[in-house]
Amino acid sequence: MAATDLERFSNAEPEPRSLSLGGHVGFDSLPDQLVSRSVTQGFSFNILCVGETGIGKSTLMNTLFNTTFETEEASHHEECVRLRPQTYDLQESNVQLKLTIVDAVGFGDQINKDESYRPIVDYIDAQFENYLQEELKIRRSLFDYHDTRIHVCLYFITPTGHSLKSLDLVTMKKLDSKVNIIPIIAKADTISKSELHKFKIKIMGELVSNGVQIYQFPTDDEAVAEINAVMNAHLPFAVVGSTEEVKVGNKLVRARQYPWGVVQVENENHCDFVKLREMLIRVNMEDLREQTHSRHYELYRRCKLEEMGFQDSDGDSQPFSLQETYEAKRKEFLSELQRKEEEMRQMFVNKVKETELELKEKERELHEKFEHLKRVHQEEKRKVEEKRRELEEETNTFNRRKAAVEALQSQALHATSQQPLRKDKDKKN
Ligand code: GTP
Ligand code: MG
Repeated sequence: MAATDLERFSNAEPEPRSLSLGGHVGFDSLPDQLVSRSVTQGFSFNILCVGETGIGKSTLMNTLFNTTFETEEASHHEECVRLRPQTYDLQESNVQLKLTIVDAVGFGDQINKDESYRPIVDYIDAQFENYLQEELKIRRSLFDYHDTRIHVCLYFITPTGHSLKSLDLVTMKKLDSKVNIIPIIAKADTISKSELHKFKIKIMGELVSNGVQIYQFPTDDEAVAEINAVMNAHLPFAVVGSTEEVKVGNKLVRARQYPWGVVQVENENHCDFVKLREMLIRVNMEDLREQTHSRHYELYRRCKLEEMGFQDSDGDSQPFSLQETYEAKRKEFLSELQRKEEEMRQMFVNKVKETELELKEKERELHEKFEHLKRVHQEEKRKVEEKRRELEEETNTFNRRKAAVEALQSQALHATSQQPLRKDKDKKN
């Protein structure tokens, strides 16, 4: 069917009509079915804690979830920032929560902090990539997939009372398009009330002027719009963490005890811990999960698919066709492959030619060497022959002389043997 026919066909679709029901049908139980299904499936929630070593990350996590997560202290001598995820199964009533706490170990401890944000960004991207790979599989199992995408980044600000460090601004700027950031002022018991007020205003001003987008509690849901709007104005929350229990009046409360008094973690006059717990866990946990999927993951997915050559419409605003894009990519890939093959073939031919030339040169050199040796050999042979002839002549001369000498000797001998006989004859005569 041609595209225009398709358009006409879809344009001709009739408007749905509203009808009233004669009695109870039952699909009003859909929300309950959804709740029941979600409860059976369980939930996952992943928190990333970014803040310098010893700022109180682990203590706050323990305080927030009213438990003790096994964590070890980080050293101040890490060569680079390292992400350490730890997953726990928690249960409250009949709700199961798979909680992952990711610690950015060694953050802010390096002398050169230029690249401190990179391992964090890479970790967040890697979780998006894992999810995307699962989505792109032919046989997907998203239902029981352990979603490790970071739902919230608690950014721990040091309570200096001055301003944000440039490391904080750079890191938050790099993370704000990838994760919901909730900035918190850690160890808020170390800063006075009036200083804290000014510090909060300063921080928010700096975040705005540097274009850092932090997570805003949503105000589009009527049920929570009011409380969320109020809480947005309290950001960044100034928190105190402690798992220690101190007796105040006749109640045991979580607090930090000092010689001059007690800082109660859950006392709203002392710090914003309750506000943070309310907003993070009790009111907006689902929104944080939702925002992660629909905003941050969507952005990652879009960029990644565009990078791979997919797009919703081509230049002429034609609707996107997965098949066409696939075909185009395939053609591009095949022609690239062909080009590479041709390049390699050419390289091979050149190499063979080069080797052939080298071999020929070697052969010529060998031949020359052989000819030279042959000439030398012939010369040697000629000299030896000459020498042999000379020696032969010498031997002949010697033999001749020897024979002559021998003849003379025998003559002389003969002559001497004749002399006494003659003397005897002479005597007889
Ligand atoms: P690493 O994991 O080693 O980076 O440290 P961390 O950020 O997890 O800090 P941790 O929770 O281990 O706390 C470090 C120290 O700070 C401990 O002595 C805590 O008791 C103390 N601490 C934690 N929270 C607070 C707080 O709100 N106020 C004050 N004054 N001290 C705190
Ligand atoms: Mg810790």
